[in-house]
Amino acid sequence: MSESPETEGKRDFLKLILGGSLTVWLGSVLYPIFAFLKPPAQPEVEVSSILAGTIQEFEEANAKIVRFGRKPVIVVKLETGDLRAYEATCTHLDCTVQYRRDLGVIWCACHNGKYDMNGRVLSGPPPRPLEQFRVVQKDDDVYVTRGDES
Ligand code: FES
Repeated sequence: MSESPETEGKRDFLKLILGGSLTVWLGSVLYPIFAFLKPPAQPEVEVSSILAGTIQEFEEANAKIVRFGRKPVIVVKLETGDLRAYEATCTHLDCTVQYRRDLGVIWCACHNGKYDMNGRVLSGPPPRPLEQFRVVQKDDDVYVTRGDES
């Protein structure tokens, strides 16, 4: 037995209403969950200079990683007494590098990448040198600034 066209039209209309209601209900449930899970956008804070520590801290430890805005920066005191600073993120796959005083290099433990004390690649897979920062000592305080500032 076939249904009348009027009954089929009513059935299609009900399907449309139910489907739309289900879609609206799913959206009202899922949107707050996604909104909660998604971290809020944070504006990039422009940092031009940071206090990395006191010169005494670098007498005790030869290197220290500090935050320069959102970037980690490694500040190294060389055996000559010079202070150097580089972005502490390896240019290969973004691992954090460390100072190997025994080797006289900045070393990435992830794939054995090595940089010299000018930030240039010595060996391993890193494709680019480390970004260099300026180090300024004022009295006992050690500041790190962007390399392009004079
Ligand atoms: S991430 Fe540093 S060498 Fe691969």
